[in-house]
Amino acid sequence: MSDSAQIVIDRVSHLYRPPRGREVLALEDVSLRVTSREFVALLGPSGCGKSTLLYLIGGFFPTEIGSILIDGQPVGGPGPDRGIVFQHFALFPWKTVRGNILYGLERQGMERGEREKRVQDFIELVGLAGFEDSYPSQLSGGMKQRTAIARTLAIDPKILLMDEPFGALDAQTRHLMQSELLSIWQRTPKTVIFVTHDVQEAVYLADRVAVMSARPGRIKTIVDTKFDKNDPNIFKAKAFVDKVDEIWNLVRVEAIKAQETRPS
Ligand SMILES: Nc1ncnc2c1ncn2[C@@H]1O[C@H](COP(=O)(O)OP(=O)(O)O)[C@@H](O)[C@H]1O
Ligand SMILES: [Mg+2]
Repeated sequence: MSDSAQIVIDRVSHLYRPPRGREVLALEDVSLRVTSREFVALLGPSGCGKSTLLYLIGGFFPTEIGSILIDGQPVGGPGPDRGIVFQHFALFPWKTVRGNILYGLERQGMERGEREKRVQDFIELVGLAGFEDSYPSQLSGGMKQRTAIARTLAIDPKILLMDEPFGALDAQTRHLMQSELLSIWQRTPKTVIFVTHDVQEAVYLADRVAVMSARPGRIKTIVDTKFDKNDPNIFKAKAFVDKVDEIWNLVRVEAIKAQETRPS
């Protein structure tokens, strides 16, 4: 087929089979095509399978039902083309901020001088200058998350998978990180799939927002959300506010369903 989708998710379902307890159908028949350089946000109630979908795209577990192709190739495991920022920042506790960010660059075999410079650039970008030698246990939640973001961005993957990356940040840092992410995305060719709970954040950052239904997660609606991201007054524009409202209503309906179907 001659279309330009970089990520093709085709009728994917995912069943968790925990060794103890009940099986959980986390995703059911999810299809989504994402074009190179596109920014797609995933919204949906807690437990609808957003993280599961990112992990499948990331190759952290196998896709058993349906298929996921990246540039025409089935996902066979994690790879340097995909960088993931986990919901719960997965830093090495025994490495400093600098060590954590350096790790991926060392693995890529980047030359020493270049990687030192790159690490410093990204430490500054996420506002952690002065904390280079701190260990994760010495950092706040927001600082750990910023370290995790810097570590992934420094590797410069062509696909960024971000699982509620700014959820733990205070409002001001969150705004800074949103505009930094946008400027990185505008400067370097990256496809982004971004999970968030924040409808305004989704509408602001993404070209399209996929709203997922309550478990088992399906893609309920895809809404176009292309706005001028360089417009400083965008948050007040009527078209923007209306779009946030429209999506809020879609998400609310699913959140209520999720409440009703929650196992007691
Ligand atoms: N390892 C697991 N074993 C069993 N069930 C799981 C596991 N991980 C997630 N789940 C369940 O799968 C569903 C989807 O989870 P998840 O993808 O984390 O949702 P979301 O990120 O949208 O909150 C939830 O009901 C969750 O409890
Ligand atoms: Mg999640």
